[in-house]
Amino acid sequence: MFVEEKSDIIDEIDKLIAKYGRNRSALLPVLHGIQKKYRYISDFAQQEIAKKLNIHPVEVYSVITFYSFLNKEPKGRNLVRICKSIVCDMKGKDAIVKALERELGIKMGETTKDKKITLEYLNCLGLCDKAPAMAINDRVYTNLTPEKAVELVNKIK
Ligand code: FES
Repeated sequence: MFVEEKSDIIDEIDKLIAKYGRNRSALLPVLHGIQKKYRYISDFAQQEIAKKLNIHPVEVYSVITFYSFLNKEPKGRNLVRICKSIVCDMKGKDAIVKALERELGIKMGETTKDKKITLEYLNCLGLCDKAPAMAINDRVYTNLTPEKAVELVNKIK
């Protein structure tokens, strides 16, 4: 990471702390803000946030790992997330996963080489009556078949 990038991250953290306060309750909104701007929360950003909020870095790390919308690693520009909960599982989630892995040439949890797409699991989207479901970025798609899922993903390839 370049010095400019580091100072940019520090500035952004300072801005967020000025907005949300220098205390423990600011942790989640600050993490959210950093994630929004950089698409992930680097080790450097985690250390800085911990230092500035006066909390242990392990606490910052555990909050990030607890919430699936917070990332420790850089992800692709598009997040394709397939519901892995029970109803979608029973309604053919595995076939969708296989079709997408084959189409993109990556496994679940991986990102395509061109950094365009990351494949991930997520928990129940609350649309079990229309299972199987998946989300592409902020949009949710339901009643999927492997063919339909591949078609949707090809639109963002
Ligand atoms: S189990 Fe997949 S949406 Fe509920």
